[in-house]
Amino acid sequence: MEQQQQQHLFITLSFFLVFFLHCSTPTLAQAPALAPAPPGPTNVTKILEKAGQFTIFIRLMKATQVANQLLGQLNNSNNGITIFAPSDSAFSSLSAGTLNSLTDEQKVELVQFHIIPTFLSSSQFQTVSNPLRTQAGDSADGKFPLNVTTSGNSVNITSGLTNTSVSGTIYTDGQLAVYQIDQVLKPYQIFDPRPPAPAPAPAKSKKKAAAIAESPDDTTADNSKAVSLTAMQNVVFWGVSAIVIALSL
Ligand SMILES: *[C@@H]1O[C@H](CO)[C@@H](O)[C@H](O)[C@H]1NC(C)=O
Ligand SMILES: *[C@@H]1O[C@H](CO)[C@@H](O)[C@H](O)[C@H]1NC(C)=O
Ligand SMILES: *[C@@H]1O[C@H](CO)[C@@H](O)[C@H](O)[C@H]1NC(C)=O
Ligand SMILES: *[C@@H]1O[C@H](CO)[C@@H](O)[C@H](O)[C@H]1NC(C)=O
Ligand SMILES: *[C@@H]1O[C@H](CO)[C@@H](O)[C@H](O)[C@H]1NC(C)=O
Repeated sequence: MEQQQQQHLFITLSFFLVFFLHCSTPTLAQAPALAPAPPGPTNVTKILEKAGQFTIFIRLMKATQVANQLLGQLNNSNNGITIFAPSDSAFSSLSAGTLNSLTDEQKVELVQFHIIPTFLSSSQFQTVSNPLRTQAGDSADGKFPLNVTTSGNSVNITSGLTNTSVSGTIYTDGQLAVYQIDQVLKPYQIFDPRPPAPAPAPAKSKKKAAAIAESPDDTTADNSKAVSLTAMQNVVFWGVSAIVIALSL
């Protein structure tokens, strides 16, 4: 009689054990469901990669974070964006060491000087008023002026230091226009031929270090959550087992 009861208890416990393991395992293993990616803003990097021969400009846009800024702007701006993308051969025709001699801030300005915060179709170049305002800012003479002139189908661009012309349309969709140019547009503000005044040391940003330091904490928080979940399941399991034992005795 006693042996039968113990056997009964053992079967009941086994049943609950299997039941709880079965129920709890999927809960623990469950990963956050990945929502389908929204269409999102146009990816300029992707467009330039697909076109080929813009590897240096892409690298600069990524290194300066301008690529990310553009994603945000394309998502929020109703005016659109126009990009004069210098080809790799444009960069290779710069004198050696030009890019390396620039400060981080100047690299940002150089990239931004090739971006107009307005969509310009090729026909709009005929009526646009000079100087164009670029993302680099102040378009006054000696700063970041950029002028466009057209004759027939050709579109000439000048920064005062660089004369070039649009050599092709890479992409246009009514909001974003990307044109190829075969020379890097040099703004006066950075490439003033007059002897430069000593540049002030660029201020170091602490933001990046802080962002990196944040991640180990996140991991710890996740781990402790997982641990406490397991602990709670153990409590539930033993609690239920105790009730089962009490009932069957
Ligand atoms: C844009 O495209 C590039 C290259 O295909 C890719 O590496 C990057 O993750 C994309 N960015 C976004 C925000 O989709
Ligand atoms: C685009 O903008 C919308 C609304 O302003 C915002 O909810 C969304 O997160 C933005 N997407 C990106 C990729 O910036
Ligand atoms: C455009 O530039 C070319 C030389 O690069 C020049 O011959 C032509 O006159 C220029 N056209 C305009 C409208 O400035
Ligand atoms: C651009 O055009 C404006 C207005 O015509 C003129 O004042 C300025 O000097 C020009 N700048 C360059 C770099 O050609
Ligand atoms: C650019 O063109 C202007 C006028 O067409 C000319 O005066 C100037 O010297 C040229 N600059 C360069 C760097 O070729």
